[in-house]
Amino acid sequence: MGITLLFLFHSLFCCFFYAHVSISIDAKCHPADIKALKSFANGLDSPVQGWDYGFSDCCKWRGVTCNTPAALKLNDSSVFSRVVALELPQEGLRGNVSESLVDLVYLRTLNLSTNFLSRSLPVNLFSLQSLEVIDLSSNDLSGYAPWNISSSSITFLDISKNKFIGDVDPGFCSTAKQIQVLKLSSNRFHGRVLPGFGNCSSLEHLSLASNFLSGDLPQDLFALFNLKTLELRDNWFSGELSFQLGNLSNLVFLDVSSNNFSRLLPDVFFNLRKLEQFAASSNNFSGVLPVSLCNSPTISSLSLDNNSFSGSIDVINCSAMVRLVSLNLGSNHFTGRIESLSSCHQLRIANLAKNRFEGDFPESFKNLRSLSHFSISRNGLRNLSSALTTLNHCKNLTVLILTFNFYGEIMPANLNLRFENTRLFVIANCGLTGSVPPWLSNSAKLQILDLSWNSLSGEIPSSIGDLRRLFYLDLSNNSLSGSIPRSITQFHSLIDLNNSLKGEIFEGFSFFSRKSQSAGRQYKQLLGMPPLVDLSYNELSGIISAEFGNLRDLHVLDLSNNKLSGKIPNTLSNLTDLESVDLSYNNLTGTIPPSLANLNFLSTFNVAHNHLHGRIPSQGQFRTFPNSSFVSNDDLCGLQTFSCEEESESDDEENSIGEDEDESLRSLVSVPLSFGAAVGFVSTAAVCFFSGMMFPREKKREFRRLRH
Ligand SMILES: *[C@@H]1O[C@H](CO)[C@@H](O)[C@H](O)[C@H]1NC(C)=O
Ligand SMILES: *[C@@H]1O[C@H](CO)[C@@H](O)[C@H](O)[C@H]1NC(C)=O
Ligand SMILES: *[C@@H]1O[C@H](CO)[C@@H](O)[C@H](O)[C@H]1NC(C)=O
Ligand SMILES: *[C@@H]1O[C@H](CO)[C@@H](O)[C@H](O)[C@H]1NC(C)=O
Ligand SMILES: *[C@@H]1O[C@H](CO)[C@@H](O)[C@H](O)[C@H]1NC(C)=O
Ligand SMILES: *[C@@H]1O[C@H](CO)[C@@H](O)[C@H](O)[C@H]1NC(C)=O
Ligand SMILES: *[C@@H]1O[C@H](CO)[C@@H](O)[C@H](O)[C@H]1NC(C)=O
Ligand SMILES: *[C@@H]1O[C@H](CO)[C@@H](O)[C@H](O)[C@H]1NC(C)=O
Ligand SMILES: *[C@@H]1O[C@H](CO)[C@@H](O)[C@H](O)[C@H]1NC(C)=O
Ligand SMILES: *[C@@H]1O[C@H](CO)[C@@H](O)[C@H](O)[C@H]1NC(C)=O
Ligand SMILES: *[C@@H]1O[C@H](CO)[C@@H](O)[C@H](O)[C@H]1NC(C)=O
Ligand SMILES: *[C@@H]1O[C@H](CO)[C@@H](O)[C@H](O)[C@H]1NC(C)=O
Repeated sequence: MGITLLFLFHSLFCCFFYAHVSISIDAKCHPADIKALKSFANGLDSPVQGWDYGFSDCCKWRGVTCNTPAALKLNDSSVFSRVVALELPQEGLRGNVSESLVDLVYLRTLNLSTNFLSRSLPVNLFSLQSLEVIDLSSNDLSGYAPWNISSSSITFLDISKNKFIGDVDPGFCSTAKQIQVLKLSSNRFHGRVLPGFGNCSSLEHLSLASNFLSGDLPQDLFALFNLKTLELRDNWFSGELSFQLGNLSNLVFLDVSSNNFSRLLPDVFFNLRKLEQFAASSNNFSGVLPVSLCNSPTISSLSLDNNSFSGSIDVINCSAMVRLVSLNLGSNHFTGRIESLSSCHQLRIANLAKNRFEGDFPESFKNLRSLSHFSISRNGLRNLSSALTTLNHCKNLTVLILTFNFYGEIMPANLNLRFENTRLFVIANCGLTGSVPPWLSNSAKLQILDLSWNSLSGEIPSSIGDLRRLFYLDLSNNSLSGSIPRSITQFHSLIDLNNSLKGEIFEGFSFFSRKSQSAGRQYKQLLGMPPLVDLSYNELSGIISAEFGNLRDLHVLDLSNNKLSGKIPNTLSNLTDLESVDLSYNNLTGTIPPSLANLNFLSTFNVAHNHLHGRIPSQGQFRTFPNSSFVSNDDLCGLQTFSCEEESESDDEENSIGEDEDESLRSLVSVPLSFGAAVGFVSTAAVCFFSGMMFPREKKREFRRLRH
């Protein structure tokens, strides 16, 4: 009886208990947590969307996750949910969060990435005993990082992309032994990395990239046996890369690029049996490639460009490197032939530019059926005809750069070539004779064509207009004659403003990498390539057709140093994105169309050395052009040094600019100037890089004199 009663009572209690629990899951959030969250929110300059202070269940607030009370050790009197996660990425939070999160003692996840939290971190935040995940990446936090973190439960800490300063001090590893992911990249940490990582023995992902760290790597870094990802790129680390690297046998991804490491790479890659990506670009490594690296069966991406490696690449054993897909050996001192690569059948990306490779272009490269990006610029290869016939078998070829090879050969005209998928085709600076090859018009996907700095002669084939996607055409510095074919003014992608293809073509392939800190933009793709027509330094004659006004998307037009005659078409004022126009050193007559003053983005304009007359427009960007843009004409007037003696008769055709417009133009001047300058810089740098050419533009004319 007693037992039954007790049993009944027990059952009743249980029912009551479970009912209570299910209610509390709906309703109660611990008052202390509400207080803590309110204090956090009060510190912000703007309210957090979706936080209703009137409503007492903070578990329902946006970005707040609570545990269930059952998970707690309950006191019967108080059944509350506790806040375990606070995640507010991309909410545009702004303001001071100092000391305001201290009371959330059950917090496991704090994700405030991509907000605008500024100033220093709440000092006590990291004393929260239960914190497991902290993501404060992409904010504006500064000051010293919270190295004295005392939470032993933390597994994930991401404070990348902030402005933290000071040392990297992994002393906290002696407490935070559980930590698996530590992302400190893109801050302002400097100095040597202090020892202490050895105790973070669970670490799988360590990123220290893009800081100002220097000196040798701490030895105990090589004790992190579980490390899968190690990102050290873009720092000032120096010295030899330790042979102890071989201890990190679980590494999958290793990037030590853009540091100051030197000497030989350690021959320890036999131990790194899981390594898939290895990047050591832009250091001072030298010597021959280590045998173990050249026989790695796991590496798919290998980037060693911009070092001082030497020797033959015959050591690369393609029958062992069965996964190799991307190989970047550019800018080193490799010598000999490139033939051995032809058995790397998986190869999709191969950059061999700026080395000392020589010999006939190997026919066996036709086996590289997957090849999509290939550059061999600045080497000493021979036989362009064979190169083109061979590469024509690589049907997926998207990017082809052959600049600075094949010196003095003839551009083959009569081959039946069809680069079906090629979007970028560059054979510049090869001193090639012959003509612009007609087979180019078979390459329907071509977007960028550069045949500059050769000795091509004859007319520009009108079939070039068949290249409907072309937006960048550089045929400058050749000996092309005849008139500019009308089809050039029909380039579809320069007419269709919504051509969205442009930027995409270099996704994942960085011929153009720059340090993000530098003044310019980062362009790992060809996003920075401006829509361009450059036919300068040829012997083109005839007029500049009014139909150039069709090319509405054009940014750069260079027709200088030809024999063009006739007037400057006023339809150029339709090209509203124009940044640079050079028509100097021609035989142009007539006046400068005043409507060109409407071109708000124009930062360079040059019509010197022609036979122009009349008034130089005085509005818009024309206020900023130097006298040298107008010298050596018949009778131009308007600027200080070319003052108009009396009102010269203005040409009838112009729609003159009223004073009202003038006012609005004035306010636009400063913006387009800087914009134009930036784009100009990027385009010059990009083109130089790709063609491996580093002549400043001003030297062109000198060079030409030497050549002729
Ligand atoms: C339970 O309540 C007692 C007294 O109120 C308190 O001392 C104890 O810390 C509480 N335990 C838990 C787990 O909250
Ligand atoms: C934090 O939120 C961002 C944006 O939603 C997300 O990408 C990131 O993975 C989150 N971090 C963690 C540790 O969950
Ligand atoms: C941020 O808030 C804390 C606490 O309210 C205060 O002590 C501190 O001075 C504030 N910091 C700034 C820079 O306003
Ligand atoms: C961490 O260090 C700061 C000063 O460097 C100190 O104010 C704070 O109390 C320390 N926190 C812990 C949990 O030790
Ligand atoms: C690891 O932590 C212990 C204390 O737990 C400390 O004595 C030791 O120096 C640490 N090791 C390293 C390499 O920092
Ligand atoms: C790397 O491995 C070697 C041989 O097992 C060992 O002697 C050395 O201490 C290890 N290095 C580190 C930093 O653990
Ligand atoms: C790079 O290392 C060399 C020694 O190998 C040193 O002379 C040079 O100053 C270092 N450069 C930088 C930028 O740290
Ligand atoms: C090549 O490496 C040097 C330092 O070794 C660096 O200054 C330079 O910017 C790098 N060049 C490129 C194109 O990455
Ligand atoms: C490259 O390393 C050599 C020694 O191996 C050193 O003399 C030279 O100064 C280093 N170059 C740079 C740019 O750090
Ligand atoms: C060529 O590219 C296509 C599309 O990216 C791909 O499906 C195909 O496998 C590639 N061909 C070779 C031989 O790699
Ligand atoms: C181009 O400019 C001319 C003359 O300025 C004008 O008549 C014509 O309408 C413009 N065409 C377009 C498409 O804007
Ligand atoms: C320039 O054009 C005029 C006629 O407009 C012609 O007589 C003269 O020969 C041309 N000059 C050159 C260098 O082509």
